[in-house]
Amino acid sequence: MAEPQPYEKLLSLADLLTPAAIRAAATLGLADHIRAGATTSAAVAEKAGTQPDVTDSLLRHLVDTGLLTSSAEDGDRHFALTPLGEPLLSDHPTSLRQVLRNDSMIGRGTQALLHLDHTVRTGEPAHAAGPGGGYWETVNNDPAFAAEWAEQARAVDATQDQPLGWGAQHIVADYDWSGVTSVVDVGGHLGAILMGLLRAHPHLRGTLVDLRNVSEQAGARFARSDVADRATAVVGSFFDPLPKGSDVYLLSAILADWADDDAVRILARCREAAGTNGKVLLADVAMPAHGPATELQYRSMMPAPSRSVADLERLCDRAGLDITWRGPTTGLRSLLELTPRPGPVTAGDADACRERSGDRG
Ligand SMILES: C[S@@+](CC[C@H](N)C(=O)[O-])C[C@H]1O[C@@H](n2cnc3c(N)ncnc32)[C@H](O)[C@@H]1O
Repeated sequence: MAEPQPYEKLLSLADLLTPAAIRAAATLGLADHIRAGATTSAAVAEKAGTQPDVTDSLLRHLVDTGLLTSSAEDGDRHFALTPLGEPLLSDHPTSLRQVLRNDSMIGRGTQALLHLDHTVRTGEPAHAAGPGGGYWETVNNDPAFAAEWAEQARAVDATQDQPLGWGAQHIVADYDWSGVTSVVDVGGHLGAILMGLLRAHPHLRGTLVDLRNVSEQAGARFARSDVADRATAVVGSFFDPLPKGSDVYLLSAILADWADDDAVRILARCREAAGTNGKVLLADVAMPAHGPATELQYRSMMPAPSRSVADLERLCDRAGLDITWRGPTTGLRSLLELTPRPGPVTAGDADACRERSGDRG
């Protein structure tokens, strides 16, 4: 066979049809239907509630790409999964269905890659150019994603005894929590770190603040856990005023998702809530990139995947926070205790917070 021409190679490299076909099959659960015995395109279409003619084209394309086989029997074409197609099954041991479906949280993030030109042009995450606003706001405020958060919460419950990931054990083990009675975990996700903290330090009580879908699930996890009497989850945004009067405001793996001005606003909200007696504990992550592909992947999702400690210190200074303790800095994580500098939060930061809240409606 003749060597493909450069334009043919380029077209094949830039192809979107095959990835879209595989993701359509994952979204519609076609592999599950085939395995359950719906082996003709008409039967698959009936089970999936799809158009028979286009379903047939999709299944035949998946045969061409090696995910399915087809055989003729009783005048009908019958489809079966190949080993390559089997991870599309929901219950396959290495199932990729959730990762590949367009309507999952991760699928939503991946689709933003179509707007990579926006990231290259502006440095903003690619989802900023797509419909529906920011990634976190969408997956957290849209009821369509609530069930997926509940599923994630159940999966996290099942791994409760595993060590905290991404160097988060430094937060629990290396900071001196002995004189602290209350902590607010700002953007605390499903509560893994807060629960780890409360278990390791039984004198502590904690409040988690996060957007709606995730905060509701964190609250449900707390309620069914052994720290139920010391953990609370509230719905809120870190661009709005935070619950006041706690000893420590923890920001773990938050700032990487935000460009400098937004990061300063978040820090300023923590400073405002910490008042004159509280501290802010900044436990930021630095995502290790392994070459241009991971660099692009990260930058398409977050504006600052690997700020240096010096970069973080500059942001803290802008937010009126002084560094009063430095914890260990690993390749993954740094730990800084910040003390509010006396004086009001600057008008600029407060106005910016108000603008940001307004932006998000
Ligand atoms: C990368 S996760 C970090 C989670 C957790 N702190 C940790 O260290 O594992 C970012 C978290 O910020 C939350 N988040 C995003 N935007 C937010 C906002 N405006 N207000 C509060 N939380 C927000 C997300 O829902 C998510 O739980």
